[in-house]
Amino acid sequence: MKILIVDDDVVTLNMLKEFLESHDFTVFLAESADQAVVQVRNQRLSLVLSDIKMEDSDGLSLLSELKKKDPNIVMILMTGFGSMQGAIEAIQKGAFDYISKPFDLKKMLTLVQKAARHVESLKRAATKEVGPPPAIETPRTLIGRSPQIVEVYKTVARATLSSSTVLISGESGTGKELVARAIHSNSNRKHKKFVAVNCGALTESLLESELFGYIKGAFTGAQNDKKGLFEDANGGTLFLDEIGDITPGLQVKLLRVLQEGEVKPVGSNEVMKVDVRIVAATHRNLEQWVKDNKFREDLFYRLKVIEIDIPPLRERTDDIPELADSFLKKYSAKLGKSIDAISPEALEVLAQYKWPGNVRELEHQIERAVALTSSSVLGAEDFDLHSSDGVGRASAAESKTNDFESGQEGADHLVGQSGDSKKSLEDLEREHILKVLKQADYNKSKASEILGIDRATLYRKAQKYGIALKGE
Ligand SMILES: Nc1ncnc2c1ncn2[C@@H]1O[C@H](COP(=O)(O)OP(=O)(O)OP(=O)(O)O)[C@@H](O)[C@H]1O
Ligand SMILES: [Mg+2]
Repeated sequence: MKILIVDDDVVTLNMLKEFLESHDFTVFLAESADQAVVQVRNQRLSLVLSDIKMEDSDGLSLLSELKKKDPNIVMILMTGFGSMQGAIEAIQKGAFDYISKPFDLKKMLTLVQKAARHVESLKRAATKEVGPPPAIETPRTLIGRSPQIVEVYKTVARATLSSSTVLISGESGTGKELVARAIHSNSNRKHKKFVAVNCGALTESLLESELFGYIKGAFTGAQNDKKGLFEDANGGTLFLDEIGDITPGLQVKLLRVLQEGEVKPVGSNEVMKVDVRIVAATHRNLEQWVKDNKFREDLFYRLKVIEIDIPPLRERTDDIPELADSFLKKYSAKLGKSIDAISPEALEVLAQYKWPGNVRELEHQIERAVALTSSSVLGAEDFDLHSSDGVGRASAAESKTNDFESGQEGADHLVGQSGDSKKSLEDLEREHILKVLKQADYNKSKASEILGIDRATLYRKAQKYGIALKGE
C-alpha cells in the first residue's frame, strides 16, 4: 500500500518513512502542502499522513484541497495538541482520524493500517456493482477447523449412523445444541421432528407431564388428553438439554423409557411404544455428579453410549478467526452494514481472551462491535472484553510488547523493526541520530548530510535529546 507522509520536519519524515517501510508500506514524502498535492496527483495516492502545523502550510487546508479533488482520499492528521476541538475540526473536514503528538509508534501503525484497509474497502466498493443485500444465513452447520473441533465432527458423523443415545458435554455456549441438531439433521431421522426440552427450566411434575403427556383427569386442570414430547418426537430425535438437572424421581422414569422404549402418560395405565432417539446435553461434570450420588450411575451409562465433549473455545483458538468472520457476515448483513474484515490486531486480542461464555459470547461480541462501529474494519478497540476470568485487551497487548522488549533490549537494531512499536517517535529519533552519528564517526557534517538536515538542526536536536556531540 502506498502512503504519503507530509511534514516540514525532515527528520520526522525520514524516521516515519523507515518505520512504515519496515511494515510493508511504499512511502512518498512531501515537506509542504504544495509538494503533497503534486505527489498525490503524480503517484495517484489515496492514503496520506500529514502534520497539521507546518511552517508555511497547514494540514487542515491540505485536507480540504485533497478532498475536493478526491472525496475518497483517506487522511490521518498528526497534531501537536490533542484537543477535542482539533479532533472535531479534523473529523468534520473529513479526516479519517487524527493522532496527537507525541505518539506511540505502535498506535500510529495500527491507525495507518486501519486507514489502509479503509482505502482498500473503498476501492472494492467502487468497483462492486450494487446488488441486493446478501441473504442472511444462519449457520446450520458448525464452524471451525481446529483439530479439537474436527474430533467433534467425526463423532457427530459416527452418531448419525445409528440411533444410539448421545451425551454431549461442554461449557455453556460451546455449541451443544448445535451439535444435537447436526446429529439429527444428518441422520436418517431428519424428516421427522427434532424436539428440544430444557430439563432445568421446569419443575419435576411439569417436566414429567411434558415428556410423557397425560390423560384427561390425571390431575386438577387436566381437561383433555395431552400428547407428551416423546410421542411428539416419535421417529425423530428428542433433545434433553441440561439433563443433569432432572430429579431422582424423573431419572428413574427416564431410565425405564430408555430400557423399554415405551412411555406411560401421567394418569394412564397403558404404555405406548415410541421410537425416539435421545440426545442429552449438560454443562456439568456428570461423572462427578455420579460419584457424589447426585445422578444415577445406570442412567449415566445409558445416556453416554456415544459421548461428545466439546472443548471450550479458549482451547481451540484456531477456530476464532473463522467463527468471527462468519458472525461478522451474519451481523453486517442483518444490520445493513458493510463491514468486511476484522483487523489482525483485533484477532490477536480475540485469541488472547479466555471466552468464559465460549462461542455464544464471541457471537455477541461481534454483533455488538458491528452495531457500534463506524469503520469498515473491526479493530481491537471495537471490542469490550473484560469479564473476570477473561484476559482483558490491555493486558493481552501489554504482555506481547513486553516480550518484544525483553528480547531486543540493548540490541543495536534498525529503526522500524516491530520491537520499536512501543517507543515514542522521540525515542526513535534520538536512537536514529545516535546511530547515524556513530556511523559517521561523529563527523557532524557527514551526520547531518545522512540525516538530511543542516548542522544547526543537528545541534538543536542533539541538545533536545541530551546527545553530546564529540569534540565540543
Ligand atoms: N462451532 C460453531 N459454529 C457456529 N456457531 C456456533 C458454533 N458453536 C456454537 N455456535 C453458536 O453459539 C451459540 C451457542 O450455541 P449453543 O446454544 O449450541 O450452545 P450450548 O452449548 O447449548 O450453550 P448452553 O449450555 O448455554 O445452552 C449459538 O448461537 C450457536 O449457533
Ligand atoms: Mg444449550
